[in-house]
Formats: sequence, C-alpha cells, structure tokens
Amino acid sequence: MKIAVMGATGLLGHSVCQEVLARGHKLLAYSNRPWTEPKGRYETCPLSLHEFDLVIRELFDQWPDALINCAAVSSPDQVDQDPAYAHLINVDTARKLAEVSSHLGARYIHISTDMVFDGTRSPYRSTDQTNPLSEYGRQKLEAEKQVLKVTDQNLVVLRITLLNGNSPRGDRSPHERILNALAQGQTPNLFTDEYRQTSSAENVAQLLVELVERPNLNGLFHWCGSEVVTRYELGKRILQKFGLNKKYLHALSLKEAEATFGDRPARLTFELAPLISKVKTQPYTLEQQLDELHLPPSLYSWYRENVDDPQCYTPRF
Ligand SMILES: NC(=O)c1ccc[n+]([C@@H]2O[C@H](COP(=O)([O-])OP(=O)(O)OC[C@H]3O[C@@H](n4cnc5c(N)ncnc54)[C@H](OP(=O)(O)O)[C@@H]3O)[C@@H](O)[C@H]2O)c1
Repeated sequence: MKIAVMGATGLLGHSVCQEVLARGHKLLAYSNRPWTEPKGRYETCPLSLHEFDLVIRELFDQWPDALINCAAVSSPDQVDQDPAYAHLINVDTARKLAEVSSHLGARYIHISTDMVFDGTRSPYRSTDQTNPLSEYGRQKLEAEKQVLKVTDQNLVVLRITLLNGNSPRGDRSPHERILNALAQGQTPNLFTDEYRQTSSAENVAQLLVELVERPNLNGLFHWCGSEVVTRYELGKRILQKFGLNKKYLHALSLKEAEATFGDRPARLTFELAPLISKVKTQPYTLEQQLDELHLPPSLYSWYRENVDDPQCYTPRF
C-alpha cells in the first residue's frame, strides 16, 4: 500500500515511518520542515498543514491508499501559548485531512489522547464520558468529534497515552526531557501521585500500520502499554536504565504543586477492550518500552562525564 504519514518528524510519526517501511509498504513522509532519516532510509517532504491548498494538491497528485495523521501541536504548553494556531492544526486540519481521505477513498487514521479525560474515573473505555481539563485536551476532543462526523467508513481515531520512545530531535519523550533537563543542571519535578499507563511509540506504530491493513476495524479505540506507573516511578526507572542516580529527581505531589502546575488529570489509564482481542499487536510492558530508549545523540559528551554506573547502558557512540 502507499501510506502517507503526516508529522513524520515527530515522536510517533518517526516510528510510524519506520514501521511502514518494515512492513514493505510505500512511504510518503510529510513534515513541517524537511528532514533526512539518519540511516538514509527516507526523507520527509516539507508540507505545511496550515497551507491546505498545497496539501490537497499533493494528496491528489500522490493518491495514497491510507493516511496516518501524527501531526499536531502536541505539547499542552505550546497550545496555551497560541491556541488559535494550535486549533488550526489540531482540529481544522485533522477534519480536512479526513475529508480529503474520504474523497480519495483512502483509509484515514487519526491520533488522539487520554487527555480528553479528567483522570477521576480510570480505567477509561472509549465510550466513557470525556471531560478535558486543558485547552490541548479540549482541542483533541473537538478534533475527534469532527473527524468521526466525516464518515463512519475507512476511518479510525486512536486515543493513546503518554508516549515513550526516541524522537528525531531527541527532546520530546519523557526520557529525553529528563536527560536534557539534567544536562542543563536542572532537577526535574515529577509527581508521585500522577498515574499514567504509558505507551511505546514503536508499539503504537505497529498497531497503526496493522489498523491500516485491517479495513474492517473502524471507529474510536484506546491503546497504551500494559502497566500503570507514576511519573516519578517512570523517572526513576529511566535513570536506572541509563545508570544515573535517582537523587537527581525532585518528587512532589499534585496537591502541593497545584498552584504552579494547574489542574492535571491524576490517573489516566485505559480499558483496551475491544481492540486488544481483535489485533495481532499486543501492548508493551514497561520493561519493553524502556528497552527501546536510546540516549539522544546531542547528550553523548555530557553523559560520558556524568554517568554514575556506566555498566547499565551501552551508548551507541
Ligand atoms: N507525545 C505524547 O506523549 C502523546 C500522548 C498522547 C497522544 N499524542 C498524540 O499523538 C500524536 C503525535 O504526537 P507526537 O508526540 O509524536 O508529536 P510531535 O513529536 O510534537 O510531532 C508533531 C509533528 O507534527 C508536525 N507539524 C506540526 N505542525 C505542523 C504544520 N503546521 N505543518 C506540518 N507539520 C506540522 C511536526 O513537524 P516539524 O517537526 O517539522 O515541525 C511534527 O512532525 C499527536 O496527535 C498527539 O496529540 C501524543
């Protein structure tokens, strides 16, 4: 199949591109800025989603069989900085891509988030009542509704949770953020009572390509890893993997930090039925998610000087 991936330079999009190629499909990789995959397996084609006339022209020229939309303004802080621009990408573009896909007869896969819930009634099913606490969560929920209105055929909306993985720029995922903060001499704040059922970018990518290949599965589904962990515990496991001491982390509770960090969902976990029984892909354990993590290349020299136990991780210098 010819599969178009929007947001190909993102944390998830990058893994999706690799999975598309690994399964022998033809890849059309799009991103805001041009980028060449370090091993030279593919280049992304620059295509600004806010210039939608160009997007339509490109998609009608290429006529893909499927489109996976991993593009988004995906950081809640960035959404708060410019909600109007974020709405254009997160909501309007998501709907327009669903419409174009429907015209082309292409399968459309859209990614959403656990942040559409308020975190008070986990584990959530895809039919449960939503109540986003942030502007990011509200935009992602609005996008889901608009995308699902376009058609009930050849379309999946997949909600996922906090993503572990390796991003092309080495600054998006939890381990990359923690290690970058440490390299800048900061002590990351991590909550001891904020529970997340983290996902693996690699595992979500496997599922997304399977969903492209399975046109009988349509609608709104949930996916994540198989274990629940607090942000602080996740931070400790990350530092353990990289042989760094956990004293570098600052543990705090949501209650004591409410004034600074606002209202955050305390517990976001998912019920994976019915999807889990219908697909070959199975969720990764936390250990599997940690196994796939690499040291961001920009941190190699800092790491060499600062690692406490070099036996724990073999960097790929
Ligand atoms: N990361 C998580 O923990 C998480 C959790 C739950 C759900 N999700 C959802 O999963 C999806 C992927 O998230 P992610 O973390 O992989 O995002 P990300 O790393 O921030 O990547 C976003 C991608 O979107 C592209 N993009 C942004 N604005 C664009 C524009 N105007 N035109 C063209 N491309 C544009 C970026 O291209 P450039 O790099 O070239 O700017 C980048 O490739 C999103 O829908 C997100 O809401 C993520």
